[in-house]
Amino acid sequence: MRNIPSHPAQANTQTPSTESIDGKFTNGYLLPVRITWASDIHLEFCREDDRERFFYRLAGSPGDAILLTGDIASHNRTARMLEEMHTATGKPIYYVTGNHDFYGGAIQEVTSALDGLRARVPDIVRLDTAGPIQIARDTGLVGHGGWACGTAGSGINTNVRINDEVYIPDLRWLTKEKLFAQMRLMAKQSADHIRAVGAQAAEAYANVWIATHVPPFAESCTYDNRLSEPDYLPHFCNLLLGDVIQQLASAFPDTRFTVLCGHTHGAAFFSPAPNLRVITAAAEYRCPSIRAELDPEAEAQKAIEAWQQPPHSPAP
Ligand SMILES: [Fe+2]
Ligand SMILES: [Fe+2]
Repeated sequence: MRNIPSHPAQANTQTPSTESIDGKFTNGYLLPVRITWASDIHLEFCREDDRERFFYRLAGSPGDAILLTGDIASHNRTARMLEEMHTATGKPIYYVTGNHDFYGGAIQEVTSALDGLRARVPDIVRLDTAGPIQIARDTGLVGHGGWACGTAGSGINTNVRINDEVYIPDLRWLTKEKLFAQMRLMAKQSADHIRAVGAQAAEAYANVWIATHVPPFAESCTYDNRLSEPDYLPHFCNLLLGDVIQQLASAFPDTRFTVLCGHTHGAAFFSPAPNLRVITAAAEYRCPSIRAELDPEAEAQKAIEAWQQPPHSPAP
């Protein structure tokens, strides 16, 4: 029986319950939680009325909680817009940061603002600093925004440069070698986090969702329905995280792992192991949209069916 109000007006007035289903809670909300997933919404590029329309759609969506896989806005706008979104929807928000969330500010400055937001509004959860969160009877959610590791495709020999090194002070004015070393370091931090919380979640749940911004496999990076070019892959892909996720999938063969990511703005579906599927969200600048309404229990069933699918197929 589902006890969580699904209508936004009800959700706005919802107070954390002291009762439980099977004795389980997540952030005080009864389980199971349905999730509205959006990625790369880039609210920094939206006019105020477009932003408000998007919040209205989120409020009216069936999801009991919102999951954002990075590139929410930029610099101090990210914290402000997360808070506005929470106020407008009344729904808990689980999110990871993307590279654009640091545009215009030092990484430490932005993360401090986001930590301050979590302290003020406990319902806005940055997964990068959280342990596994139970979102259904048998499903745990973990996450980390991560970073492109710089080694996929052409690696450091790529001729493509992206705006990270222009707009993120920590990455500005670095030599190419130092830039790629820093990218690798940040990518490794996300891989280390997922190694720890992913194993914890896999011990506890039959289904583990991993939210991240940067796709962990080259096959998850597409543009115009084609796999991304080798020169773009160093900036599009976090292979260090991919290695860790594959290790988790083989260490826990009875656990089904679902990775939700974004960053490339191209839809993709990739299943590198029978118990592992990776879904990359399509996105368009100035058109923030809901990528999917996910019911963890229905998704668990789909994950079982995905075992039968070929290893790489077009986006669902
Ligand atoms: Fe993006
Ligand atoms: Fe991104």
